[in-house]
Amino acid sequence: MKRKPLLAGNWKMHTTVIEACHLAAEIGRCSAGIDDRDVLLAPPFTVLSEVAHVLKDSKIMIASQNVCWEDSGAFTGEISPTMIKSAGGTAAIIGHSERRQIFHEDNRMINKRVQGALKFGLVPILCIGETLEEREEERTFIVLTGQIRDGLAGVSAGDMKKTIVAYEPVWAIGTGKTASKEQAQEVHAFVRNLLAEMYEKDIADSVRILYGGSVNVDNVDGLMAQADIDGALVGGAALKAESFCRIINFT
Ligand code: 13P
Repeated sequence: MKRKPLLAGNWKMHTTVIEACHLAAEIGRCSAGIDDRDVLLAPPFTVLSEVAHVLKDSKIMIASQNVCWEDSGAFTGEISPTMIKSAGGTAAIIGHSERRQIFHEDNRMINKRVQGALKFGLVPILCIGETLEEREEERTFIVLTGQIRDGLAGVSAGDMKKTIVAYEPVWAIGTGKTASKEQAQEVHAFVRNLLAEMYEKDIADSVRILYGGSVNVDNVDGLMAQADIDGALVGGAALKAESFCRIINFT
């Protein structure tokens, strides 16, 4: 079963208000009329509503780059699901390796964020990925199993159907060193089998699993041709309309 592809751009900590509006408008133009694939943008919190406004007549989905598990309260520096929805977002990236590594978010906190997103009506995009050291020590599958099992603890089968998973090997992020399409496919198939064990095969077959880590105009076609790769979560190459539009139009 082939799932509808999803091409997602994670803008990370880039773009001022003006830059974001320009970039969103260009991506809106180049993806107009495309409906055999979904497009999603994850701009910084500060421009979520501007980007949503620029793209209000498009089908492009807007995601935040993180989300709090509570919907309001004394959580300085956090952003709530309702705030994201009120700015025009419908999804949230959770557990990105930069959150895990730089800000020490662990599987337990990431699970709270996933549950919070689902409770308040956002689609969680749960990111998982091993470090170079973990891969070299042949611990990739152990690490990913922990990230999936702990990150999805308490998530019902019904909610799993709405959830997106993104496999982003840490060693491939921003390094120009992409996982080969075979390496990526191997992990994606592993993750899908694990989801089938945790839920059921039908659900595992319906979940979109994105690949992220130095996706660019040259490698996107090969990656997207893999049976279990349902989309891309793109960093650097999503910051230029030209390259992201080419990625959206992968063949
Ligand atoms: P790069 O595409 O810049 O490697 O970043 C990937 C990523 O972290 C997307 O979330």
